[in-house]
Amino acid sequence: MFLKPSGMPYYRFLSALHETCLFDWYLEVGCRAGKSFAPVRSKTIAVDPFFQAEVNIIGRKPALHVFQQTSDDFFASGFLARNGIRLGLAFLDGMHLFEFLLRDLINTEAAMDPGGVILLHDCVPSGTGMTTRDLDNLPKRAWTGDVWKLIPILQAWRPDLHLTVLDCQPTGLVAVSGLSPENRVLSANYERIVGDFSDMTIEAFGVERFFASFQMASGRAERRAGFPLFRAASLGFDRALEPRAVTP
Ligand SMILES: C[S@@+](CC[C@H](N)C(=O)[O-])C[C@H]1O[C@@H](n2cnc3c(N)ncnc32)[C@H](O)[C@@H]1O
Repeated sequence: MFLKPSGMPYYRFLSALHETCLFDWYLEVGCRAGKSFAPVRSKTIAVDPFFQAEVNIIGRKPALHVFQQTSDDFFASGFLARNGIRLGLAFLDGMHLFEFLLRDLINTEAAMDPGGVILLHDCVPSGTGMTTRDLDNLPKRAWTGDVWKLIPILQAWRPDLHLTVLDCQPTGLVAVSGLSPENRVLSANYERIVGDFSDMTIEAFGVERFFASFQMASGRAERRAGFPLFRAASLGFDRALEPRAVTP
């Protein structure tokens, strides 16, 4: 049986997180209208091949770099390394096919502060239809694709990582922490992992097995506790601690 995440909506979780924590650098892959990164107050890098910015995306950010290209092209450009950027928080919400998210995760981890957190979106589907890989027949409503596979892949290949599956509606947020930017296990085994998982459906993997493999943690409890998961790479936890501009 599928378990539908029923906690606080992910937009609300993200906006409360950014209101509470400040990071040196934030990366978002897959931005569309900009709604999920509009509330960010940290220096931001936003990547999407098809931006449809509809909101004030600069907002309170001290810097915003927008890359209208695929995440593969962005990472291949070397922008992060060239500029000595260490990311404190990343939100990966680009192409919803697992091999894309796996590459985004590999490339992102290499640029992370080890105390930082990578958030993966849409890894907790609430039905089979939304997990399709058929790009010509996507469901009319939510499409998670098969990025659910990141959970078993990371459990099998990177047991050193800490996965917290937050119950944020509609399709969960997986917080990946305990990062090792130098770790090459996933990149060295990328072809094998993709070969093992590409034809696997969630029914073949086992829906019960999938949902038994993790416990959902409460997004609300994380917010109430002041976002302890995110503190290690956060520069400040409270807006009151921030330096304020002085009006002459
Ligand atoms: C689900 S939307 C992102 C929604 C946004 N994060 C939010 O929460 O409002 C997915 C986005 O991924 C983008 N995308 C598709 N392929 C991509 C790729 N290869 N690299 C980066 N982004 C991609 C799409 O253009 C789309 O805007």
